[in-house]
Amino acid sequence: SWTMLNIVEDAVDAVRAQVGPRGRAICGLSGGVDSAVAAAIVQRAIGDRLTCVFVDHGLLRKGEAEQVERDFVAATGVRLRVVDAAERFLKALSGVTDPEEKRKIIGREFIRVFEDEQRAIMADGPVDFLVQGTLYPDVVESGGGTGAANIKSHHNVGGLPDDLRFSLVEPLRTLFKDEVRRAGEELGLPPAMVWRQPFPGPGLGIRIVGEVTADRLSILREADAIAREELSRAGLDREIWQCPVVLLADVRSVGVQGDGRTYGHPVVLRPVSSEDAMTADWSRVPYDVLARISTRITNEVREINRVVLDVTSKPPGTIEWE
Ligand code: XMP
Repeated sequence: SWTMLNIVEDAVDAVRAQVGPRGRAICGLSGGVDSAVAAAIVQRAIGDRLTCVFVDHGLLRKGEAEQVERDFVAATGVRLRVVDAAERFLKALSGVTDPEEKRKIIGREFIRVFEDEQRAIMADGPVDFLVQGTLYPDVVESGGGTGAANIKSHHNVGGLPDDLRFSLVEPLRTLFKDEVRRAGEELGLPPAMVWRQPFPGPGLGIRIVGEVTADRLSILREADAIAREELSRAGLDREIWQCPVVLLADVRSVGVQGDGRTYGHPVVLRPVSSEDAMTADWSRVPYDVLARISTRITNEVREINRVVLDVTSKPPGTIEWE
């Protein structure tokens, strides 16, 4: 639209003015819409003087890494460095079951990997600017200040080094989420990114109740992909705030699948409706949609022999299980 085009152009001009004719910037991409739109705006403003970094922690859902590496790059022409850090994260998470411990480890490893990349990029010359996808509600929440206190660290893996060597570039600082999505459309970003529902920074790492392993991740990834596909096909994406699929990796139950008895794992479907994630209600997903998800998951994911529905509101239940 005309106004959105103006908002994007103004943001591009403001970045150009802030970074100057020779300044360089770094931006971490998470796969989410905020960092993607922020990066796309900065790319328009300063081109290859922006380097994006995508730390693939191996905890994203099916297709999401490709969305960043292939579709986002194709749409924006952004200069991107990808770090495949899946092995490193798995190693660090080995044996860990406590949810907060998992978050701490994932956050710590993320910052280490990102800082290594930062150093590599700065070997080509100084970088003074760090791009952040801070939105207006984040600004308000943190008291409207600038600097490290304002960095989007809020229990988020995207919360980057509280590093004052950088000036922050925050092109989304005056925008609300729906405006960011419209800006993303205006910028021609992949629709799956623009419309992505909230997804936690620690990713599938906190959707496996129990230890995180490569096998468990691939089981969960398949089940989650089926649930997302069927919910989308049923036209429920905008109605449902998000739908975590949770693997109860240490629980087994008896089933009959194919030619015999199985002893597999359950997954939990956790569809919720919400305005802001502070409170939530469980979504009344039509039975036939639930049936399709259940049938497909138990048919297509060998290790899963039971699909259960979480019918708890928040409070008392949180949206995520960990
Ligand atoms: P809960 O489970 O607390 O989740 O009801 C509220 C919202 O926050 C997301 N969430 C996280 N996001 N890092 C994030 O970036 C996290 O560690 C994290 N934990 C929960 C959750 O998906 C929901 O949207």
